[in-house]
Order: sequence, then C-alpha cells, then structure tokens
Amino acid sequence: MQGGRGAIEIQVDLPEDGALAGMAEVVREGLSCPFKEIPPKYFYDERGSELYERITELPEYYPYRCERQILDARAAEIVAAARPRTLIELGSGAASKSRVLLDAMSEIGTLETYVPVDISEEITRRAASELVDEYPGLDVRGIVCDYETHLERIPRPEGALIAFLGGTIGNFRPAARRSFLARIATLMYPGDRFLLGTDLVKDRATVEAAYNDSAGVTAEFNKNVLAVLNRELGADFDLDAFEHVAFWDPENEWIDIRLRALAEQFVDLTTLDMRAHFARNEEMRTEISTKFTRERIESSYADAGLELLEWWLDDAGLYALSLARPLAQ
Ligand code: AVJ
Repeated sequence: MQGGRGAIEIQVDLPEDGALAGMAEVVREGLSCPFKEIPPKYFYDERGSELYERITELPEYYPYRCERQILDARAAEIVAAARPRTLIELGSGAASKSRVLLDAMSEIGTLETYVPVDISEEITRRAASELVDEYPGLDVRGIVCDYETHLERIPRPEGALIAFLGGTIGNFRPAARRSFLARIATLMYPGDRFLLGTDLVKDRATVEAAYNDSAGVTAEFNKNVLAVLNRELGADFDLDAFEHVAFWDPENEWIDIRLRALAEQFVDLTTLDMRAHFARNEEMRTEISTKFTRERIESSYADAGLELLEWWLDDAGLYALSLARPLAQ
C-alpha cells in the first residue's frame, strides 16, 4: 500500500425510486396474507439505525459485544493464512467492526482496498472519508445497494476477505440462506475467505431477554417499522395500538419478532390504495433472528459449496465467528 490519501469511489446502485424500491409490492403482499409479515430490511431508516445502535449497547443484547470480543481476539488469525488485500463487507454501516479487520490487514502489510456494501449512501460516504484518513493509501470502492438483490454487482478483486457480520444471516429463512451462501461461494476466488458472524442456540431466557430488553428499546425499534410504512406508503398505523412480541421458537431455532394489535383496527395505506384489517390480538411478523449450532453452519456451508476452516467463540460461548473458503470445483 502506498502512503498518502487513497481514492474513494462510491457506486450507487439503487433503483430509480430509491432504496425502498419494490417496497409497495412487498408490503402489499405481506399485509394481504392471512398471517401478515413485513421484512426486517425496512427497520433501518435513520431512526431505526439509531435505535439499532442503542440496542447494541443494551446489557441484555449480548450478540454485538460477543462478536466484537471474538474479532478483537482473532483478527490476526483471520487474516494470517489468506493474507487478503481487500476487505468486502456486506452491510458495513458505520464500519466500526471493519476497523479491527483493516488494522489486522494493515499490520501484516497486505491492506489495499476496502469495499463497503450498504443500503445507506450517507453512512457509506461518511465511513469512506473517515477510513481514507485513518489508513494512508487505502482505496475505498464502496457500493450502495441492497446486497441481497445486487450481490453479483459488488466489485470483487482477487484476494478478498468477504465479511458478513452482526448475525444478520439469521434474518434469512433457510431456503434464502442457502441460496445467498451459494451465490457468495460462486463469487469467490479460490484464495478468498468468507467471515460470518452467527448467534448461537442457547437457553431460552438469555436469548429472549436480548429481544425483550427492560428499557424497551427493542420494542421501539420494532414499532419504528410502522413509522417507516406511514412515511413511505402514506399509511396511518397508530404505533400505540401495537405491542412488541419476541419469543423463542425451539422448532425453527429462531427468535420470532412480531407486532400484536391491541384492539381491532383498520389501517389505510394510501400509496397502495389498500385498507388492512387487524383483529384484536392479531400478530404480524416483522423479523426472525435465527440462532445456529456448529453443525448447522457446517452443513449450510457444505450445501453452499463452502468449507468451514475455523470456528471461534466468545468467552461465554454465546456467539460464533466462522471462516470458510470455497470448495475446489
Ligand atoms: C441486526 C439482524 C443482527 O437479529 O439480533 C436486534 C436485529 N432485532 N434486536 C438481530 C435485531 C431486534 C439484529 N440483526
């Protein structure tokens, strides 16, 4: 890596109608089903991202801190064998954890390029300009897109570490998870590595507390999706007419997150020219957060054409980081 300030290139690959393109149809469909459902990606407007930041600081919400602890302890090992020159991060956000990996790459002298991939242009640009100041010679080639739809458009120089942190893979259903991991495997060069953060299956009380914090931040985060629908789709959801519900589903091994209507009500969504009915106590799902075992990750990798190389836990054994490589074709 050369000294001096590196280059910043941010490619914005959002559809004409912005980050929320396709939202109208997705929400229409989700509200038309007998069991209503809204995908979790709509949580993250500015307020939602702020609330998620606050969640990461809650005493009950262990995943963030556990992942951070593993990264701090293992960053050198993560980069030692493959010696990546590029860090590609899916859902990079403010890039707070990326710095741990960038430091490790810089330490062994391989760091050249950082490729943040995020849905928020503002956050990506801010992170990019901070990082070129912090890492002399680092080039940032970011891409603003929905990484699930636009995975194949991400720049991917050879010799990359692709990181998907935070446990966000837990938001995918099994079929979507399989195809997403398989698409990642297809994109990888033989020397590339994939770093994945996954929350683990554990006792019900610990995991339920993480999604039912006593300060009520998670409840606020959950209800914020209704504010997003009000703003983006001209809806008139009354946030006080719903309550936050989060419970462990042992069969699916995920936390099921819902909003429960406190009374029977109708909601108008003017952009959709639609009126939705909620019965009293009706629940609408807003997120699933799947928890994993080593076996499940290993078999998910195998299905996708990936091979597990390393498996690291935090001190309490609550959370795992794993490193994988593409199976030789
Ligand atoms: C950002 C998807 C990893 O599943 O734990 C936190 C989101 N939802 N509290 C998670 C979330 C409620 C979080 N992820």
